[in-house]
Amino acid sequence: MFLGLYKIEVGLRNDLEWKTKFIRPNNSKLLIMRCLCSPTKENTWYTRRSTLLSLGTCYVWYLGFSRLANPASITQQSTLVYKVTLLWIMKRDGVPNAKLNSFTMSTHHAVVTIAPRAKLDIHQVPTPTPKASEILLRNEWTASTPLDLHQNDGHLLVTPPQVLGDGLAGTITHIGPSATNLKVGDKVFGFAYQGNEQKAHQEYVCVPENVLGVIPDGFSMPEVVTLPNNFVTVFHALTANLGLELPWPKPDGWMPKKKDWTILIWGGSSSVGQFALQILRWYGYTKRLSTASKRNHTLLEEYGATSLFDYNDPEAIAQISEAAGGGGMNLVLDCIGSQSGSLAPVAKIAGKGATVAILLPVVVHDASETDAPEYSMDVAAAADWKEGVVVKGVRTHFYQENSFFKDKLQPVIMPSLLELGVVKPNRQRIVEGETLLERAQKAMDVLRRREVSGERLVWRVWEGKG
Ligand SMILES: NC(=O)c1ccc[n+]([C@@H]2O[C@H](COP(=O)([O-])OP(=O)(O)OC[C@H]3O[C@@H](n4cnc5c(N)ncnc54)[C@H](OP(=O)(O)O)[C@@H]3O)[C@@H](O)[C@H]2O)c1
Repeated sequence: MFLGLYKIEVGLRNDLEWKTKFIRPNNSKLLIMRCLCSPTKENTWYTRRSTLLSLGTCYVWYLGFSRLANPASITQQSTLVYKVTLLWIMKRDGVPNAKLNSFTMSTHHAVVTIAPRAKLDIHQVPTPTPKASEILLRNEWTASTPLDLHQNDGHLLVTPPQVLGDGLAGTITHIGPSATNLKVGDKVFGFAYQGNEQKAHQEYVCVPENVLGVIPDGFSMPEVVTLPNNFVTVFHALTANLGLELPWPKPDGWMPKKKDWTILIWGGSSSVGQFALQILRWYGYTKRLSTASKRNHTLLEEYGATSLFDYNDPEAIAQISEAAGGGGMNLVLDCIGSQSGSLAPVAKIAGKGATVAILLPVVVHDASETDAPEYSMDVAAAADWKEGVVVKGVRTHFYQENSFFKDKLQPVIMPSLLELGVVKPNRQRIVEGETLLERAQKAMDVLRRREVSGERLVWRVWEGKG
């Protein structure tokens, strides 16, 4: 513990009104503070003097718990700074009944998308207090997924400013009054997506207890954070969209009724595809065909593909149709959802009686550095399907409609199958960068350049100790 001094400039900003809403007590003036002792790049929007109409300067003594230069400590100390500064400015401007305890708010950094195809931004957002059975966790690692690109470049189902990310791994710091299964200090991982407070590209995340599993011994956060989104996606798609049985717990000697059905996992080297192959194998489905670039075939053999095809090979469609035999393909999971790259070839392969589940959105046109992406949600119209083929769009966000999965999928099944070695984490590409914003932006740029192959982009969120 030590004593320090903040020099704070207080002023008005008009250009970024919405960014400053959270420091507007009682609809008073828009305030913006310049903390001269908070030299993180991520605080640059506080420090652009050109747009700051200075109202004055104040000095605030404070008690610190960690080194001042450590950006992580700024989040903890900023609450006090905001409170004292707001009190000061309210009194100075004659706001009636200004009291120090009239404004209590902890805040933390969050990565947000602000406009289609714009650079990401960092916002200081309120840190929630967990209610009922909610859990507040310090989010230490996250993963970047194609959805982040769809949301940033295409603003797919986004209302800006929106926090991105939905895979998280961290340490519980607070629990709600009726949380029963988890405790402060537990190391957890999970997939959460309902509203900004639950999104993963921020330092603190407040989520329902049932979206978290305890990390099994022997696994690191960068490893486990590759799982949640697509582990959940696979259970949801295989059961709700393809009608397969995946019982839990799996009875000894259990065999699926459809064990000899021919199942094609198009895009097996994607994160979704890797989990699909491993889970189908464990449940006893025997005919697991898959496509991937040649360089990923060894990995997918290890994960349980029984026949592999290189989708870049012009002969691939003929080879797959031949491998499916006279009965044709029974089920297809299109893990890619590319109108030309996966739906078009799958439509040539799938015949009468086949069911095809496609990971939404259908990508009509990929995002690139020069072009905006184009998406569609209409899987039936997106390809020339043969008569008698049933086509479905996969939406993982509905997995909680299955009440058993709602309570058990992430808290129980996910950590258990990881611990048993049934599913291996995706290979990790660790995205380095000096700041939270830099890491998030780099990962977004890698996604846009479509460089991800048989791996997951993971990066550190929390920069402090622990
Ligand atoms: N709707 C939902 O609920 C939901 C849930 C999860 C994911 N998704 C969507 O599903 C898609 C995949 O997600 P992900 O995280 O698994 O992706 P990912 O791991 O980032 O996918 C990368 C892989 O895609 C493969 N690939 C690219 N084009 C291909 C093609 N034409 N045919 C076959 N493989 C191809 C690459 O294979 P090679 O390197 O071997 O060439 C690469 O390994 C994304 O669009 C995502 O948004 C939707």
